[in-house]
Amino acid sequence: MNKNIFQNKVIIITGASSGIGRELAIQLAEYNVSVVLVARNKEKLDEIVLLCKQKGSKAIAIKTDITDEEQCKNMIDSTIIKFGKIDILINNAGITMWAYFEEIKDFSISKKMMDVNYYGPLYCTKYALPYLKNVKGRIVNISSITGKTGVPTRSFYSASKHALNGFFDSLRIEIAISGVSVTMIYPGFVSSGIHSKALGPDGKPIGKNLLDYSKVMTPQKCARLIIKATAKRKRELVMTLKGKIGLLLKFILPNFVDKLAKKAIEKGK
Ligand SMILES: NC(=O)c1ccc[n+]([C@@H]2O[C@H](COP(=O)([O-])OP(=O)(O)OC[C@H]3O[C@@H](n4cnc5c(N)ncnc54)[C@H](OP(=O)(O)O)[C@@H]3O)[C@@H](O)[C@H]2O)c1
Repeated sequence: MNKNIFQNKVIIITGASSGIGRELAIQLAEYNVSVVLVARNKEKLDEIVLLCKQKGSKAIAIKTDITDEEQCKNMIDSTIIKFGKIDILINNAGITMWAYFEEIKDFSISKKMMDVNYYGPLYCTKYALPYLKNVKGRIVNISSITGKTGVPTRSFYSASKHALNGFFDSLRIEIAISGVSVTMIYPGFVSSGIHSKALGPDGKPIGKNLLDYSKVMTPQKCARLIIKATAKRKRELVMTLKGKIGLLLKFILPNFVDKLAKKAIEKGK
């Protein structure tokens, strides 16, 4: 891809301390940009800041819990003080779960999914939007294929990603006139750190990865595809062929797609 495409752009990446967000930061740093790395783990962010600087980009870390509206506002204010503008907001931070609804003892899991996966992107967008409008900027949201179709063991996660899609589909129309684009990304499984941190039926991280990581997309490839979609201001990107076929089939054979989703979880790929 043309290396000038993001030149001098100021790019905020939430959830940049690991997985897909970390990889987005490292790859975007090759485009001579200013990256703002956001997450709660400041030590990890500082390591990635160094990697980004080694690639010739400017980079800062802003420790932020995106479930806290005030912290999101401060993060946006700090970005403006440091870099003077915001060109791209990538709402990537997220958490997941791995539990059948009937096994769940702790319903706070549902609230946590909504707080991180839905309200977090909303708060960041609310405070970034006036600046994005100044430059006809871009908002990129990392949703999930479960935001388009239900998957067993992910009920609350899927609900939070459906909420995210509904919100941004509406906002896209409201802000179209300003020139700010909204891109929705729908990955399938990606071999990031998220799965061992998934919340189990007791509301605690399950602590082990139940997926066959040799069979799923790497964070490197995932980040490459997100960057391409961002450059093209694509409306949406369903990342895997399986996902694309599944969503087409859903219109005509929805029960068959339910079976595929069940099988995917049972086989872990
Ligand atoms: N991996 C997959 O299979 C997959 C599939 C579809 C969609 N996705 C989506 O892709 C996105 C990235 O996930 P990933 O797989 O890269 O997971 P990951 O490696 O666990 O990264 C998640 C990131 O979110 C941050 N985060 C979590 N809670 C936060 C909070 N309250 N405030 C600020 N940051 C927070 C984490 O940082 P701290 O802990 O340092 O705060 C971390 O940097 C998520 O939205 C996820 O839903 C992933």
